[in-house]
Amino acid sequence: MYRIGQEEIDAVAKVIKSRKLFRYMEDSECGRFEQRYARYVGVGEAVMTASGTAALVAALAGAGIGPGDEVIVPAHTFMATAVAVLAVGAIPVIVDVDESITISPEALENGIGPRTKAVIPVHMWGLPCNMNRLMEVAKKRKLIVIEDACQGVGGAYEGKKLGSIGLAGAFSFNYYKNMTCGEGGAVVSSDPRLMQIVRCSTDCCGFFWNGKEQDIRSFSANGSRASEFEGAVMNVQLDRIDDTISAMRKSKKDILRRTTASGLLAASPRHSPDWECGTKICYLLPTSTAAEAFAKQVGGVISAKTGRHTYNEWDPILNRRAGHVPAMNPYTWEANRGCRMHYSLDMCARSLGILGRSVMIDNNPEFTAGQIDELVGRIETAGASVLGQAVGR
Ligand SMILES: Cc1ncc(COP(=O)(O)O)c(C=O)c1O
Repeated sequence: MYRIGQEEIDAVAKVIKSRKLFRYMEDSECGRFEQRYARYVGVGEAVMTASGTAALVAALAGAGIGPGDEVIVPAHTFMATAVAVLAVGAIPVIVDVDESITISPEALENGIGPRTKAVIPVHMWGLPCNMNRLMEVAKKRKLIVIEDACQGVGGAYEGKKLGSIGLAGAFSFNYYKNMTCGEGGAVVSSDPRLMQIVRCSTDCCGFFWNGKEQDIRSFSANGSRASEFEGAVMNVQLDRIDDTISAMRKSKKDILRRTTASGLLAASPRHSPDWECGTKICYLLPTSTAAEAFAKQVGGVISAKTGRHTYNEWDPILNRRAGHVPAMNPYTWEANRGCRMHYSLDMCARSLGILGRSVMIDNNPEFTAGQIDELVGRIETAGASVLGQAVGR
């Protein structure tokens, strides 16, 4: 969480005083946020959900993904990306990331099989994926692209907001994200039919409440409707996001420029540095030993060792344990028999190598000039001590 304060308190108090706590009542905070967020992202529609995971599930459902389909996901993401694929009955296929810590377009292309229907590029740590290359591959191989922009709220790729480039985008507003209401999410798309399915997936009785005609047949799904408290907080958070992101972009640029000028330390390659979120300052070290020592001295985290963002930490997936009872496990379904579902701990060894050499340092929009100077000094000292050369500042 970055910025939150009196404005959010006032917005929630207003909802309580109005006694209109349900999202389909007049002057809906959720409805207002959805319209504003769609405009902000540059798409036709947005639908709020209870979480980023629910947003991914609804987006996949909207795109018609289901049993018999494979969906490609990167080796480095929060497990929810792969879990969402299983939630719609399809099978996740895991492919390598490259030095940018995002999905490798080559690995995507090589990972496509006869059953592959979609890919979920993940803008991990607010770092935009190589969307031009990915969209080229997707177009050539007729893949649906659903962007996991859960960590990319407020970021863009070459001027286009993350989440607006593929067929649909999914966002998380949980506590750790760039905008937050504690828990929450949203789906965005310019495909009206997809968004009708998303609405039904989010609230199977929504058509009753919002009085809108729909030309899809409604179906049963796990509801994940957002509350007016979430809508109220998100309307304030949306007013804050551009300043938050531009502060982090600016400090990240400054820190990287100063700490890489000597040529000793290398930043992780970036696809759209002028548009990224700037939430993490990332370096690629020559060896995992150097990365460990650097991370320790500087107070950073090795990307491979966050405890939950690399495929070898996704136990339920690696062990094909999906569904609460065996009959609900897509890995056992006849329809999925032709899908690839053999996972191993070293299946994406290239990713493990790169992630083991990648060090991430938290950025913060509230950093003062003095704190930035101190951080730059710490990074330079650690770089010099680990890589064995003195740096003249
Ligand atoms: C990349 C990514 N995808 C999906 C999710 C799931 O979002 P939520 O926790 O809101 O369900 C997260 C959340 O941490 C995430 O980081």
